[in-house]
Amino acid sequence: MSASERKDDHVRLAASQQATTNAFDDVAFLHHALAGIDADAVTLESEILGLSWPVPFYINAMTGGSAHTGEINRALAIAARETGVPLASGSMSVGLDDPSALPTFRVLRDENPDGIVFANIGIERSADDARRAVAGLDADALQVHVNSLQETVMPEGSRSFGHWAESLERIIAAVDVPVIVKEVGFGLSSRTLSRLAAAGAAGADVSGRGGTDFIRIENARRSGGDYDYLTGWGQSAVACLLDAPADAPTLFASGGVRTPLDVVRALALGARAVGVSGSFLRIVLEGGAEALVPVLRQWIAHIRALQTALGVASVDRFVDTDLIITGETAEFCRARGIDITAIARRTDAAGAAERSRNVR
Ligand SMILES: Cc1cc2nc3c(=O)[nH]c(=O)nc-3n(C[C@H](O)[C@H](O)[C@H](O)COP(=O)(O)O)c2cc1C
Repeated sequence: MSASERKDDHVRLAASQQATTNAFDDVAFLHHALAGIDADAVTLESEILGLSWPVPFYINAMTGGSAHTGEINRALAIAARETGVPLASGSMSVGLDDPSALPTFRVLRDENPDGIVFANIGIERSADDARRAVAGLDADALQVHVNSLQETVMPEGSRSFGHWAESLERIIAAVDVPVIVKEVGFGLSSRTLSRLAAAGAAGADVSGRGGTDFIRIENARRSGGDYDYLTGWGQSAVACLLDAPADAPTLFASGGVRTPLDVVRALALGARAVGVSGSFLRIVLEGGAEALVPVLRQWIAHIRALQTALGVASVDRFVDTDLIITGETAEFCRARGIDITAIARRTDAAGAAERSRNVR
C-alpha cells in the first residue's frame, strides 16, 4: 500500500469514530452566580509563541498527500481563512518524499495566505526535511509528532524509537520557527514534557486519548486486527494538563475535544490553545468549508459567551477559575499525588490573599 493510500484510509477510519463521553466530562466549573462580566470586556485574542492568535483553538494536524486529502486541506484552509482559526498541516512526509504531492499541503497556505499555519513532520525526519516542510508552507511554527504506539500497531510502522530525542534536537536547531512537539492521541506525561523542554521545544500539544484513536484505526488496517486489546492506551489531555510539570513547554491540548465547553475546560487546566481534529473532520467531509465555517463561528461565539458568564476577561485567565475534578481523572490525580482540592478552591486562594491585604 502506498503512503498516500494510507492517508485516505486514516480519513475514512477516523471519520467513523465519534467521541461521546471522555475525560473532559470529569471537569466541571464551580458555578459562581455573580462572577459574570460584560461581553465587551472579553477578548479571545492572545500572544502565544510570539504569534498573535485571534482565537484560543485551532484545526489540528490531519492530512494531505493524496488527491482526496488535498481537497480536504483546501476546505480546511478556506474555513480557516474565513474565520481566522489557525490550522496545522497533516504529516508532510508524503510531500517531502515525492515533491509532486507537495501541492496537496501547499494549498493550506495558498488558500489562507495571512492565517497562522503550522507545518508537521514525524520526529524521525532529518533537519533538512524540517527546513523544507517549514519553507513549503511558509509556516509560522513546526509541529513534530511523536507516535510510537501508532507506529507499533501500523502494519508498515517503524520499530526504531531509540534515536528520537537526538533527532528532535537536530530538528529544533535547524528551523527558525517555534517547534511544538505533539502526540497523536496517547498523551504526553510529566516526564516527557520536562524532557521536551530540556531539548528546546517551545511548545507541546499533549494530544491525549478520548477522541481519535490511532490504535483502533491502525488495527482496522491489520489483516488480523490482533492489537484490539490495546485500545484505551495512554492519558487523556485532561490528565496530562493536570500532571504537567512547572518546567513544561508552552502547553497546547487536543484529543477528544467535542464542544466549546471542552475548549474552555482545557484552557482552565493550563493549555494556551486547544486543537480539534476528528470533530471538524466529520463536518468537512459532510459539507466542505461551507459547513465548517458556521460551526467555527459558533465555537468562537460560544467561547466568548462562556468567558463572559465565567468572568474571564482574557483567555489566559481561565486558569483562575474553580474546577471540580471527578471520576477516573480524580483517580488518576490520586495516583499521581495531584491536589484536586486546590484546583477546586482557586478563587478562595485569591480571595484569601485579597482579605489578608485588607487586614494589613
Ligand atoms: C484523519 C487524521 C489524520 C491525522 N494525521 C496526523 C498527522 O499526520 N500528524 C499528526 O501530528 N497528527 C495527526 N492526526 C492526529 C491529530 O492531530 C490529533 O492529535 C488527534 O486526532 C487527536 O485529536 P482529535 O481527538 O480531536 O481527533 C490525525 C488525525 C486524524 C483524525
